[in-house]
Amino acid sequence: MSIKRVIGPFKQILTMDNMAPAGPLSDSSLEIIDNGGILIHGDTIEAILDAPSFANTINKKASSEIVFNEINGPAVLMPGLIDTHTHICYAGSRSEDYAARLAGKSYMEIAKAGGGILSTVDKTRKASQDTLVNFLRIRAESHLLRGVTTCEVKSGYGLNANTELAMLRSIKNLNTQREHLIPDLISTCLAAHFKPLEFQDHTDYLDYVLREIIPQVKKEMLSKRVDIFIEEGAFSPSLARHFLQGVKAQGFSLAVHADQFTSGGAIVAAEVGALSADHLEVSGSDDIEALKRGNVIPTVLPGASIGLGLDFAPARALLDAGLPLVIASDWNPGSAPMGDLLVLASILAMYQKVTMAETLAALTYRAATALELCDRGILKAGLRADMIAFPCSNFNEILYNQGTLKPHFILKNGKDVLV
Ligand code: NIG
Ligand code: FE
Repeated sequence: MSIKRVIGPFKQILTMDNMAPAGPLSDSSLEIIDNGGILIHGDTIEAILDAPSFANTINKKASSEIVFNEINGPAVLMPGLIDTHTHICYAGSRSEDYAARLAGKSYMEIAKAGGGILSTVDKTRKASQDTLVNFLRIRAESHLLRGVTTCEVKSGYGLNANTELAMLRSIKNLNTQREHLIPDLISTCLAAHFKPLEFQDHTDYLDYVLREIIPQVKKEMLSKRVDIFIEEGAFSPSLARHFLQGVKAQGFSLAVHADQFTSGGAIVAAEVGALSADHLEVSGSDDIEALKRGNVIPTVLPGASIGLGLDFAPARALLDAGLPLVIASDWNPGSAPMGDLLVLASILAMYQKVTMAETLAALTYRAATALELCDRGILKAGLRADMIAFPCSNFNEILYNQGTLKPHFILKNGKDVLV
């Protein structure tokens, strides 16, 4: 039988409970419990304790099977962070692309000249599955130490059945082995990331993906999600529409790389009923209205703006339109090499005037919705014991330190990562 643990006291517990699912949030909407604690049973939250109940539980513990873990010094507790968009299963670096961008070349110019996504595809195809698992594990572990307890990971550097499936198997294997403490990994098939050189025609390649890759992903239960990069030079809106309808018919949830350099993707996302549209750097009011009509979750990726030196997505306008803004890292070797979700979110928040409450919501319960997970993102009885605490007395310190204040206490599925 798993033990019960009471942990505390915390100066503040941000439960992220009882908050609006979408639209603007003022900081006064944050539910804050002062000087309380948390009761954990195995991998589940049994109770959030206010100060009197916390004191009571500690007093009772001598006569029961409850273990007390005392937190020394000030701490602010909140749900673990959820990163809904990454590409962290890959081999090789793209520092030469970064240097070329600093010298003035654009992302798509570099791609056309033989760098970009296809150069990572080349290195990833040459890597063994063990090597891929190893790189993925190292990145996943470092994400967990920065407070990310759930992390989406895309394929997309194989662009053939062999390596796309190897990437998805690597993600699944690492997630199920659980010999290491890592975030939960949620995989997404992004075989439609770019047209590989072996194909002359974009339509032929997408037909191949629909025929040779997607059914196998389903058969092996490698992922429930499919993504596509809708962009000039990648896949056009009309090809993407057809492709997404095809994968939806096979029962997959849809995410879309949309409106990064040119618009059109958000409208397709709304038409096909995608769960989320990610990037949105160039989305205008028509695109935002389409997302609203289509009930599509907007996910912004400040890492790609910073990595490419381009404007941020219109996070403020998305919230003001009543949408449930999500912020993700997009950690990848090309456009977003940094991958530190909290640093990226805090920088975006200042440029876009996203409140503390909106930013923390975008990293927790709103992010959980974008991955269709209803057991996390909030500190509440019955949900998964994924949580992080920062060494400070007030939650404002978390974003004020621009992501450099790191959690000093992390619980993943009720297990200590850092205490
Ligand atoms: O989300 N834009 C397309 N895909 C990734 C970048 C992948 C890469 O450059 O390796 C992104 O930014
Ligand atoms: Fe991406």
